[in-house]
Amino acid sequence: MKMKIMEPVLLIVEDDDVIRKTLSEVFLKKGFKVLSADKGKDAIEFVKAHKVDITLLDLKLPDMNGLAVLKDMHEVDDSIMAIVVTAYPEVKTAISAIKAGAYDYINKPFELEELKLLVDKALETKRLKSEVEILRYQKGDGCVFLQTVGISPEFKAVTELVKTVAKTPKTSVLIQGETGTGKELIANAIHCLSDRKDRPFIKLNCSAIPDNLLEAEMFGYEKGAFTDAKQGKKGLFELADGGTIFLDEIGDMDIRLQPKLLQVLENQTFRRVGGIRDIKVDVRVVAATNKLLPAMVKQERFRDDLYYRLKVMVVHIPPLRERKNDIMPLVEYFIQFNNKNFGKGIKRASPECRDMLLKYSWPGNVRELKNIIERAAILAHSDEILPEHLPLELVEEIAAFVPAMNKTNPAAATLDEIEKAHIMNVINSVKGNISQASRILGIARQHLRKKLKRYSS
Ligand SMILES: Nc1ncnc2c1ncn2[C@@H]1O[C@H](COP(=O)(O)OP(=O)(O)OP(=O)(O)O)[C@@H](O)[C@H]1O
Ligand SMILES: [Mg+2]
Repeated sequence: MKMKIMEPVLLIVEDDDVIRKTLSEVFLKKGFKVLSADKGKDAIEFVKAHKVDITLLDLKLPDMNGLAVLKDMHEVDDSIMAIVVTAYPEVKTAISAIKAGAYDYINKPFELEELKLLVDKALETKRLKSEVEILRYQKGDGCVFLQTVGISPEFKAVTELVKTVAKTPKTSVLIQGETGTGKELIANAIHCLSDRKDRPFIKLNCSAIPDNLLEAEMFGYEKGAFTDAKQGKKGLFELADGGTIFLDEIGDMDIRLQPKLLQVLENQTFRRVGGIRDIKVDVRVVAATNKLLPAMVKQERFRDDLYYRLKVMVVHIPPLRERKNDIMPLVEYFIQFNNKNFGKGIKRASPECRDMLLKYSWPGNVRELKNIIERAAILAHSDEILPEHLPLELVEEIAAFVPAMNKTNPAAATLDEIEKAHIMNVINSVKGNISQASRILGIARQHLRKKLKRYSS
């Protein structure tokens, strides 16, 4: 992953007009956004009001000692890389500057080329530092093994929409779908098919973080924002700069935080908690939910303005039971996946087994299918997955689908029908607990399972 700091910001703090202006021009040409100050106080104000990456800091300023300026700057933002400029070779001062947290120093008069190199090095160090921070949040598999499987027209429509959306650089996207339908996979696909693919993809689960911490996690905080905030910290929006942020379970985001998110979506700026500087980022937001947001809007648990903003681009992933054509391709895909991972040599699911997989309602969608195939692959001893390798809840559900006994005319029922109806009643009464059901019925568990399998085929 190669990352650039987008339009790096350089703050030149220097009271010599000629040097300040020359340096400004040089670094403007190099593609920096340049700010300059001739007093220490102004420099600190700049840092409070803007995001600064690197500062060239003259130690001898008219109003303050450069080291004090450095200290104050770092109180605001300790990620600023400071290159200290000393008037003459004064090793002691240079050393105390490094001790005070400067990145490096340079003596006056200096060669311009030497300074440019030093600034490049500082930028590279800063890039590496933020890369390390980002890696802590990044999904492990990045964009390498991405595969979305599905042949149904419903799923094809999803992948087509994803391709189109990925090409738009900034549009935020709302992904809707039941649990396990592949919302995270699709969010990752949008990122990986876009020009942002070499930049971070950062995932944040809004329901996993307590409301009072979510804002700081998303937007970072400045030093002193809380009693124990001894240093400022970047939030995920800053870390994701240039990339994509995936806000999972957006329906669970605290309603008080929602206006701040709306503001980022609208003008890409925000402030850290306890901060007064506007921070601008270039991030695409992909949000996901398995809740029905319109209902939450009605209950005033989700803001309507945020909902309308997100609704502009919705990707709806239908549940697996509404796209049965995808079941077998997914089964094949996960069989191959398990062969690779567990060194198994499974070739297929038996015809009887396939039938059952197609009949099942898949409440846990693709995730459930993936887990069931993984389990079956472990249990299977031959190259075929058989019904006995499938979990009971699946077998039972299918059995329950078989038309029940003819209740209107019990006298017309066969013994088999009566037996089946009785068995299903018992199973229902113990909420599907097969051990308990077999005890009540007075037959062995295995025997009961065989019967259930027969009902389901
Ligand atoms: N079409 C697909 N092709 C291949 N794998 C898929 C597909 N859809 C989902 N998966 C896999 O199924 C699992 C569940 O998907 P994912 O985590 O994206 O679902 P989700 O909708 O985010 O679920 P939840 O609502 O529970 O968070 C993952 O392992 C994912 O890779
Ligand atoms: Mg998910």
